[in-house]
Formats: sequence, structure tokens, C-alpha cells
Amino acid sequence: MTPDSGSKNRLKVLQALINEYAHQYHALDDASVSDAEYDLLFQELLTLEENNPDLVDKNSPSQRVGSKPLEGFRKIEHIEQMLSLDNAFNSDDLIDFNKRITERLNIIESIEFSCEPKLDGVAANLLYRSGELDYASTRGDGKVGEDITHNIRTINSIPLKLNKNEYFDIPEILEVRGEVFIELNDFNKINKHSEENGHKVFANPRNAAAGSLRQLDPKVTSSRPLKFFAHGLGSVTNQSKKFPQLQSEVLRAFLSWGLPVNIKSGLAKNVDECIVFFNNIQKNRNSLPYEIDGVVYKVNQLSLQNKLGRVSRAPRWAIARKFPAEIGTTVVKSISFQVGRVGSITPVAEFEPILVGGVTITHASIHNFDEIARLDVREGDTVSIKRAGDVIPQIVRVDHDKRPPHAKAVKIPTECPSCSGPLVREESEAILKCKSGQNCLAQQMESIKHFVSRNAMNIDGLGEKIINQLVNIGTINDASDLYELRKADLLELDGFAEKSANNLLASIEKSKSTTLQRFIYSLGIREVGEATALNLSAHFKSLEKLMNAKEEELLEINDIGPVASLYIADYFKSIEGRNLIQRLMNLKILLQNPIENTNSKLGKHIVVITGSFSDISRSQLKEELIRLGAKVSASVSSNTTILIAGDKPGSKLTKAEALGVNILDEEQALELLN
Ligand code: IVH
Repeated sequence: MTPDSGSKNRLKVLQALINEYAHQYHALDDASVSDAEYDLLFQELLTLEENNPDLVDKNSPSQRVGSKPLEGFRKIEHIEQMLSLDNAFNSDDLIDFNKRITERLNIIESIEFSCEPKLDGVAANLLYRSGELDYASTRGDGKVGEDITHNIRTINSIPLKLNKNEYFDIPEILEVRGEVFIELNDFNKINKHSEENGHKVFANPRNAAAGSLRQLDPKVTSSRPLKFFAHGLGSVTNQSKKFPQLQSEVLRAFLSWGLPVNIKSGLAKNVDECIVFFNNIQKNRNSLPYEIDGVVYKVNQLSLQNKLGRVSRAPRWAIARKFPAEIGTTVVKSISFQVGRVGSITPVAEFEPILVGGVTITHASIHNFDEIARLDVREGDTVSIKRAGDVIPQIVRVDHDKRPPHAKAVKIPTECPSCSGPLVREESEAILKCKSGQNCLAQQMESIKHFVSRNAMNIDGLGEKIINQLVNIGTINDASDLYELRKADLLELDGFAEKSANNLLASIEKSKSTTLQRFIYSLGIREVGEATALNLSAHFKSLEKLMNAKEEELLEINDIGPVASLYIADYFKSIEGRNLIQRLMNLKILLQNPIENTNSKLGKHIVVITGSFSDISRSQLKEELIRLGAKVSASVSSNTTILIAGDKPGSKLTKAEALGVNILDEEQALELLN
């Protein structure tokens, strides 16, 4: 059959589109279409090429994996090519896959599969030589990737040296394939921090992970909470008898060598169990701390994998079943502008409410004004919105064909929507800012919201609506006014009765006794997150000393750079900042000093914490140690005196053992604190 010109044209269009989207996704970390849309196009291309084999071009995107590496990083050739996966979109596709391989292997028994959550992160290749991490690279085009060793080494859970053990031998050369990712909580924190400080925010956790890995400065990468799961083998030499024969054993071997693997992986005896696994994971998807976009199925027997081999871009022995896209189409009712705590202006689109993945979506923030221009979104436009896990919904595409006539382009505001103050766009910052500070009502509200939040002063029952009412009526102007609220003030508000007013007053009173760290954090100083507040409180031990610290002294503190030290010094010099603190102190806020109530019994110790704990959280443990005078450090070195190792300790434990550091388990650590 000769191919018709329609198919030929469509192929060309598909190839061009896919090439462009793949480049945006792999090389620029900036995809303009959703994964689901991309998959649909790719699937269409594969089907069209399957039906018209004569039209398959060696440059078609179906004939390669990924995209070319970015310039600027050293290129590394993978010993074994890094493959991609074919997709299944429903149970029938999976059943077909099972049938295909059963026939190809010419067997009658059911095939066993390793079922693994498909993490939506960035693929990485780690090369271990004689058990030591030699280099790490991205996938690149599958054959050649970029050298990211300096950044991979900052990921604490990745061992620099593998643990030898009696169960599995470590091959001389070992390529470990896995996924680098960022958990949703951490992703939201990074974006919140960036937004509050007027920096660019990431569209999704995958982009945040990719952006962090592509940093030329490993210091930036180490400040990003990257995680890694190993999920497969590349090239391996010198296989001994004590080497895995099954994919499920590969995962176990990784674990025994100290490499993190996803414990949610499982085994299916046959394709029916694969479907059950998928349904379970799909049901529980939103309770996972990271984003997944489907399940990867791999033939469990490595010998069968070998027999099956691969086609150009993907192995025959594995397939990815993707979740249906959580995408919906709706109309933008309006686009307005919100003012953040430090004055950053964020555009927000309000939608005709729409149900996406079981949740009603009414609005989405648009990262900044460049994003409005990139999307070319206007009021009245029909848009596709995507919701993924805990990530705030976002507009992924605008259907320009459906634009109503006379739809006006969004006008970039010149004055603050709250206080009408002038807006400025600072050099090197992508965001417009209102510079009125606490004279702007919106910034007042946001500062108070931050002050009462859980990790700050933790005032229970004081939500956004109450704060907005109190600020709008003028009952409160800043955080100190909260402590002078009377029951009568609350009873005037919507929804307050005797009991709820009493409860709120009690929780305001309770918050008066707090730690220096929480107090510093609650002030909402730019660049001062919880960790910086903890370092400041441990270093100065009193509010007064911190308030009088010079910029040079601040710079000497662990993790505080020139930008943060400038903001901190400026805040404590400002009349606004000093007045607020004075008023709060007059109201008898009681700060537990990190050292006053201790005998500084750990004064000489440099402690590192690793793993997870059952009776105390890591941050609590850290706070307690600092309170007892210890210095808590992020990595093990020859200066470390104690390593506290919880569950799943990872590479820090190996390193501490090698250095002869005193190692305590959770129980011993709790004893030490007492
Ligand atoms: S195996 C030869 N296993 O999905 C098989 N991939 O769409 C190659 N991914 O590039 C991949 N979780 O970055 C495999 N458990 C898992 C995975 C996984 C996520 C990613 C990986 C790969 C992409 C393919």
C-alpha cells in the first residue's frame, strides 16, 4: 500500500511538534504541553509509522531517546545506552504487551513482573568503579549525557561508597540507573520561598529537580532537597554467583549496597496482578510524598529480559502504564493580582469552577508576567488546566481558536491593587513588587498570616478569613495587636460565639511562650526560613545580641550568605522592625533561650543526624541538640563527634563508621537528650 499524502503530512507535523516539545522538556526544562498531551502525539506518531513503515525516517523522534544534552556540561558516554519506555494507557494495552512477550518467548507459564511506581523526576546514571562513585550523568540523548557528578555528590542519600555485604557482590564496574526527584512538600516550600523573595518559581517538581541538577554551582544544588531512587542496572562487569538473577533481586542488592530504592515496588505473578497493583497505586497516589505518573512493569527474570532484547528506543521487556491525565478545560472568568508578604505581585486566574481529578478548581496562580505573555492568556479564554498531586493547579495551554472577539490582553498593573503604591520591577527579578511594606494592607495581612502559622508562633484557630476581617476593620495592624485583642473584638466578627472567642484568646495567650527560633522565623524577614532562624538562635542565644549584630558577624554563621545577612541586618536596623519587636516584648512574649535552660552539656560536640525516627521528628531532635549546645552539621567529616542514626540511615552511616565516629541509635540519642 502506498502511503497517502495526508499521512505523510501528518507525520511531518507530528515529528516537528514532538521534536520541539522534547527539546523544551529535556533540554530546556520548560515544557509547554502536558506529559499526557505529549504522550498522545507520540502514540499517534508510533501508530502512523507502524501502518506506514516506508515513511519511518531515521531522524524521526521515534528512533531516538530524549534530546541532545545542553552545552556547558562535560559530555559522558553511557557504557550501556539509557533506554526509554513504551507506554500502555489501559488494561488492554497491558494485556497485549503480556501476550506479545509470552508469544515471543514461546512459553506457556505466566510471566512474573516487577511493578514499580513511575516517578516523575529526572533520569540519572551513576557509575560505581570498585564500589566507589566515579561519575554521574543525565540521560541526554540516551547515548551521551551530561556530567552532573558534582551535583549528584550533594545528594546525601546517594552513597559515595557502596556497602560490601555477604549477600550480593559488587561488580567492578556498575552502572546504576535511577530517578532524581523532589518531594511535593519540599517543592512547595522551595516555590513558596522563591515567591516570597521575588525569584522565579518552578512549574512542577520535575522541573525543580531538573533545574537543581543542571546547576553549575553544587552549592545551589545542595540547598535543594533532592532525593534519589535506584531502579535498574546499566552495564555491569565481572558478575559473580552472588549477583541478582531477578529485577526484584536487583532492587534488593541496591538496598544492601546502601542505594535508596522505592519500597512501594512489588511483584506480580501475572498480568492480572499487574492490573491490581496499578489500581491500588492509583487509589493511593495522592497520599505519596512524591509525584508519580504511572507504573513501570518489568519482566522479573533477567535471563528473559535478555532473550527479549529491545527495539530501537525501548526494551521489549518493560512497559509504563500511565495514569489518565488530570486535565480539564474551562473558561477564565477574570485575571486579578495578589500581593504577597514582601510585596510580590502574582497574577491569579479565576475560572468557571471545574472538577479535575475529583477536586473542584476555581483558580490558579500564574507564576509571573512573563508566563502570561508566554501562554498569551486573556479573560474569556478557554484553557486546559492540570492538577497533579498536591501541586497547585496550573494553566498548561490556552485554546486560542476559542478566544472570544474583543478579549483584551492582560494589562500589567502599574500600581498595587491593595494600596495603590507604585510597582517596581527589580533588576534580575522576574516579579513586580509593591514597595509600601507594612503600609500596604495586603502585606500587613500576609505578614500576620505568616506570624501565626504553624511553624512560627503557632496560633491555632486564627485563619485567613479572621485575619482579613480584623485587618479590614482596622482592629489589628500588625502581629503585636493580636495580643491586645479582647473578647468583644472577636464577637463582632462573622461566625464567632462565646466559646470560639475564648478558645482563640487562649491559643493567642499560649503562643506567648515560645522559642527564640520560632520568634525569629515569625518576623518574616526575607531569606530567613526555619533553618536560618535556628542557626541564628543557636549562634546569638539572645534576641538582643541578634538585633545588634553587624552584617560581618552574620556572614560568619553557618549557611548565611551575603544576601540573607543584608536582609537580616536591614530588618533589625529598620524602625518598623525594631518597633514591632519592642511592642511584642512589652506584651511579655517569653522566649526560651536555646542555652539558658541547659548546662550546655553537648557544647563540644558536632553532631550529624541521618535516617528517620519514630519517637521524635528530625527537626525536633535538631532543635533539642542545639539547645544542649551541640553544633548540628549536615554531613559527616573528620570533625564529626556523634552520628545519630535512625531508620534507613544511608551513606552517612557508612562514612561515620569508616571514620570511627561515635554512633548512637534513636534510643541512645533520646537518653542523651534526657
Ligand atoms: S526503567 C529500560 N523504572 O521513566 C528501562 N524507569 O519513561 C528504562 N522512570 O527514563 C527505565 N521510574 O527516567 C524505569 N521504576 C522505573 C522508573 C523509570 C521512573 C523514568 C525513567 C525513564 C522514564 C521512561
